[in-house]
Amino acid sequence: MGRIVYYTATTLDGFLADPADSLDWLLRQPLDDGGAGDYTRFIADVGAIVMGSTTYEWVLAHDPGSWAYDVPSWVMTSRTLPLPAAAGADVRFASGPVGALAPGLRAAAGEKDVWIVGGGDLAGQFADAGLLDEIVTSIAPVTLGAGRPLFPRRADLELLTVERNAGFIVARHRYTGPLQEDRV
Ligand SMILES: NC(=O)c1ccc[n+]([C@@H]2O[C@H](COP(=O)([O-])OP(=O)(O)OC[C@H]3O[C@@H](n4cnc5c(N)ncnc54)[C@H](OP(=O)(O)O)[C@@H]3O)[C@@H](O)[C@H]2O)c1
Repeated sequence: MGRIVYYTATTLDGFLADPADSLDWLLRQPLDDGGAGDYTRFIADVGAIVMGSTTYEWVLAHDPGSWAYDVPSWVMTSRTLPLPAAAGADVRFASGPVGALAPGLRAAAGEKDVWIVGGGDLAGQFADAGLLDEIVTSIAPVTLGAGRPLFPRRADLELLTVERNAGFIVARHRYTGPLQEDRV
């Protein structure tokens, strides 16, 4: 069975996007393709993905007419949203507790990993359900002061690896559970 991994870029002060959902601060960063945290290597081990509706709407708006993922993809939403225009996109909508979704995600992924694309609260929902294995962050040399949070939870993590890619710190953490001080 694969892992459930939250893999994302973030600012140094813990934001996935600015308050207007802009990623301009990220998309302008130089990156060493094939270096630490490389997306192509990461996605080769991914068998299914899950994302929240804000992320999905960002992807649709910024890449209209195409769908970048060739694995089964779940979008969490309480609304009725359009499917991608791209032929062959395997997108499924779901809502409610992520624990109910996990068996389907794992079955689709097989031996491969499940990728939580974001946002941060969705990753937190998996953590709350005891389903989150790892958080892999590419930390950009940027602060925003406000925006969409990386992981709005109190948690303990174990640092597994840390590498550098151009201006990014690439860190892999194991999620070990709620913050020790909060455990009863
Ligand atoms: N830096 C990066 O690499 C990176 C990575 C990922 C995302 N992002 C960006 O970060 C931002 C994330 O946005 P966000 O914080 O709003 O998070 P999000 O997870 O993309 O979207 C949150 C929305 O998803 C729906 N949702 C979440 N869990 C649900 C559940 N269990 N059942 C039903 N619906 C559920 C809800 O909306 P509705 O029910 O109203 O649909 C919720 O408001 C976006 O701008 C995205 O583009 C950046």
